[in-house]
Amino acid sequence: MERENFGSKIGAILAAAGSAVGLGNIWRFPIETGRNGGAAFILVYICCIVLLGMPIMMSEFMIGRHTQSNTARAYQKLAPGTPWKWVGRLGVFTGFFILSYYAVVAGWTVEYACLAIFNCFRGMTTRAEFEKVFNDFASDPVMPAVWLIFFVLLTHFVIVRGVARGIERWSKILMPMLFILIGVLVACSVSMPGAASGVEFMLRPDFSKVNSSTVLNAMGQAFYSLSLGMGCLCTYASYFDRKTNLAKTTLQVVIIDTLIALMAGFIIFPAAAAANYGLTPQDIGPSLIFITLPNVFQQAFGSLPVLSYVFSVMFYLLLIVAALTSTISMHEVVTSYMSEEFNLPRKRSALVETTLSIVLGIFCALSFGVMSDVKLFGMTIFELLDWTASNICLPVGGMFIALFAGWYLDRQLFRDELTNRGSVRAPYFRALIFVLRYITPFLILAVILGNFGLF
Ligand code: TRP
Repeated sequence: MERENFGSKIGAILAAAGSAVGLGNIWRFPIETGRNGGAAFILVYICCIVLLGMPIMMSEFMIGRHTQSNTARAYQKLAPGTPWKWVGRLGVFTGFFILSYYAVVAGWTVEYACLAIFNCFRGMTTRAEFEKVFNDFASDPVMPAVWLIFFVLLTHFVIVRGVARGIERWSKILMPMLFILIGVLVACSVSMPGAASGVEFMLRPDFSKVNSSTVLNAMGQAFYSLSLGMGCLCTYASYFDRKTNLAKTTLQVVIIDTLIALMAGFIIFPAAAAANYGLTPQDIGPSLIFITLPNVFQQAFGSLPVLSYVFSVMFYLLLIVAALTSTISMHEVVTSYMSEEFNLPRKRSALVETTLSIVLGIFCALSFGVMSDVKLFGMTIFELLDWTASNICLPVGGMFIALFAGWYLDRQLFRDELTNRGSVRAPYFRALIFVLRYITPFLILAVILGNFGLF
């Protein structure tokens, strides 16, 4: 079967950046920043990006581009007859899990975009009202599932168009749109009267708040935000052409992803400060963008309701865009795996993944309502999937990727791939190998042990 490639360099970068930029940046990053004390957390996060994120991203790009195959086949090609292929298979499972629950939250963003468009928040003033809207919706047995199905089908629609005409074309449209929207929102937010203390929260580090759990959370967030540890970027890199400079692409994706996360922080904290809403710990949970923020938008422009309207519509549209380019990337991991390993036509394989994710996703959606009592290890189905995927599967996957690239793989092959067979320089190569061998795996081990309270 002829494999497709991204048609242009910028298309490849935007697709990878589209995968990385998502609810992880706009929903999860501000939550983690808020919980872990603001600027100090951000500094630790940036260290994690450099020490863990960049080396693993380069390794994933290298493995994917070299083998030009889905993530499980990639390990089979590089390490035939060894158990390394299970690293790829673990990734495929993780992709399926993450897509299923991620699409639930993505579905909520569609509902909220509709609420914003139809101006349903007008006249609401108290937190209790916003809470009621959210809880009524999330615990409804039907609507969250409907939006979930809608969102997975939207993803499906892009996937079946293929790599260049689907993923690449849509990323090229959606990513610049996202940049513009988010830029406008930051400008609005920081220029609101009273926004200064929110800006300060993002900029003035208070190191007394940094402890081992801050570091662990920052690492988890780095994996999640950069789409690392499950072969997502490995799969995308299999569509890169031979001339793509992997190190440069890594740097570009990391910069875009980090900038967007920081910008999301500069939207949310200043807006909250301006509304004099006073973020309390209970606001800085998963409810931040669905309860606190609509309230903030509503209060922030007291005398100018039209601005409240525009602000909230733009914000939720932006979330949809960001989430869509991410769900596409998770779907692609599973679709390309099934289609290449079981010799299925791409459309059929996409349909199987879509159906499976919808079924599992419905259980996740219901775990906020009728199934909220169904618990395993004290967690609902949604929480269990989120916890297992981001705290266990991604770090374990990332650790094995680092071990594979640092210890197992032939160095010359690695170097050839990073230098495009000698046509670009890689002065960082020895440092990279050192980090992959001795730093990345051990740091990750610390995260995992930390998750079990052993560290
Ligand atoms: N990185 C995306 C975000 O920030 C989510 C995502 C896409 C992801 N693909 C992934 C997370 C693979 C983990 C693994 O929202």
